Amino acid sequence: MIIGENIRLRPLKKSDKDLFFAWRNDLDFVEMALSMRLPKHELLEETWLDNAMTDISNRHVYFIIEALDSDTPIGFTALTNIDWISRNGAGGIAIMHPDYRGKGLSTESFRALFDYGFNKLNLHKIWTHVHGGNPASIKMHERLGCTLEGTLKQHYYWDNAYHDALQYGILKDHFNQINA
Ligand SMILES: CC(C)(COP(=O)(O)OP(=O)(O)OC[C@H]1O[C@@H](n2cnc3c(N)ncnc32)[C@H](O)[C@@H]1OP(=O)(O)O)[C@@H](O)C(=O)NCCC(=O)NCCS
Repeated sequence: MIIGENIRLRPLKKSDKDLFFAWRNDLDFVEMALSMRLPKHELLEETWLDNAMTDISNRHVYFIIEALDSDTPIGFTALTNIDWISRNGAGGIAIMHPDYRGKGLSTESFRALFDYGFNKLNLHKIWTHVHGGNPASIKMHERLGCTLEGTLKQHYYWDNAYHDALQYGILKDHFNQINA
């Protein structure tokens, strides 16, 4: 459990299935998270959750984000595909509860996740792919000190158009310098 000023990051629970079922079928989320566009069945969510909760590869860490003011689950964040030799991993985040968007909670949650990844797991680098048309995510990455490392041109197809994906990255030393 990681406790911040306004949020806590807690491990997954079996009862989170309905949340993931709703969230991962939300088409705005699917587009902005650059996900697979196929509908996700409840059974698939159950299997995904079971696998995530019993994963012993040590390559993926998932957290539910809860708002401290209401104890409500408002989203999730994760470090996935951790490479323990190069010591990097992919960051992911979503604030799905509409009442909790635009309040700086993704920035706070991602900062807490990065701090955990760098200073507890000793990762060297965290990277993300961001939809080129996602200004909220771009702003959050910039506020955290992430660097735009490159643009993956026309990387993601959605609604009859190809969209760029932006690769952001941040190194442990840089994160600790600006988030001390
Ligand atoms: C992207 C996302 C995580 C942002 O969450 P959030 O908690 O609302 O973000 P924050 O409040 O921390 O910060 C967002 C910033 O972007 C700004 N922003 C939001 N929409 C914007 C827009 N259309 N244009 C410009 N800036 C915008 C906000 O004003 C805020 O900046 P400010 O605090 O300086 O005013 C959230 O919208 C989300 O979960 N989207 C769906 C999934 C997703 O996109 N995940 C990211 C994958 S990389």
